[in-house]
Amino acid sequence: MKLAVTGKGGVGKTTVASLIIQHLADQGNRIIAIDADPDANLASALGFSGADEIVPIAEMDHLIEERTGAKPGQSGSFFSINPKVDDLPEKLSLSRGNIRLMVMGTVKKGGSGCACPENALLKNLVSHVVFYRDDVVVMDMEAGIEHLGRGTARAVDMVIVVVEPGMRSIETALKIKKLAGDLGIDRIGIVGNKVRGNSDEEFIRGSLPGMKVMGFIPYDTKLIEADLKGSGSPDNFSGIIDDIIGNIPR
Ligand SMILES: Nc1ncnc2c1ncn2[C@@H]1O[C@H](COP(=O)(O)OP(=O)(O)OP(=O)(O)O)[C@@H](O)[C@H]1O
Ligand SMILES: [Mg+2]
Repeated sequence: MKLAVTGKGGVGKTTVASLIIQHLADQGNRIIAIDADPDANLASALGFSGADEIVPIAEMDHLIEERTGAKPGQSGSFFSINPKVDDLPEKLSLSRGNIRLMVMGTVKKGGSGCACPENALLKNLVSHVVFYRDDVVVMDMEAGIEHLGRGTARAVDMVIVVVEPGMRSIETALKIKKLAGDLGIDRIGIVGNKVRGNSDEEFIRGSLPGMKVMGFIPYDTKLIEADLKGSGSPDNFSGIIDDIIGNIPR
C-alpha cells in the first residue's frame, strides 16, 4: 500500500500520517515513512529521538554528487537523471521497530524549475520505493502532489487530503482535486481532522460534494499534548484509523 498525505498547512497532515504509520506498524506491517515536507517534522511526530539532528537527503551534497555526477544546484550541467537509489532506503533511513523514516528536504516542484541533480535523486528515490518496494509507503507532503512526478503519483493507492472545518483548507482540497484530475489520478480521499461534532462533519461533506470522505478525526487535546512532548502518536485512535484505511481500495 502506498499513500500520500497532503492538504493545507497546519490541517494535521503530519498528525494523520503519523497515526496511520504507527497503526500499520503496530499491525506488523513494514513501513517506509517519507517526510517530503520542506519543514520536516514527521520524525518528532513519530517520537523518533534525535529528530532535530537529521540531515535531509536534499542536503547530502556528497551523496548527490556521487550518485548523479554533479554538485547540487547545477541545473545546467550533465547529470544522471536515473541515479542508483535502491540501497538508499536502508542506508539513509532512521529505523525504529517496523518503521523506516526518510527525510527528503526541499523537493523542488515539478515542471520547469526542477532540472537539478538533487531533484533527480529525490524523485528517483520516491519512485523507487513506490514502484519496487513491498513495504507500506506513507508520504507526508506539503499542499500538492505535483512534486511526486506524474508516474509516481499515478502509482499511489490513495492521495489522502486532510481538511479541517473551515473554508481555507476546503479550497486547498479542491485545488488538489483539480491537480490530481489533471494528472489522471482519481484515487483521492478526504480525511476531516479536528472535527468537533456532527455539524463539522456535515460542513466538510457538504463543501466537497463528489469527493470520497474516508473518515473523521475528532479535535482532541491528546494530539496537541503529544505534539508538545514530541512523544509520538497516542494509541487511542486505532478504531478511527482502521476505518480510514478500510476505505482504501486494494
Ligand atoms: N485532531 C486534532 N485535534 C487537536 N489538535 C490537532 C489535531 N490534529 C492536529 N492537531 C494539532 O494541530 C497542529 C498542526 O498539526 P500538524 O503539524 O499535524 O499539521 P500539518 O498539516 O502537518 O502542518 P504543516 O503544514 O506545518 O506541516 C499541531 O499542533 C497538532 O498537534
Ligand atoms: Mg506537517
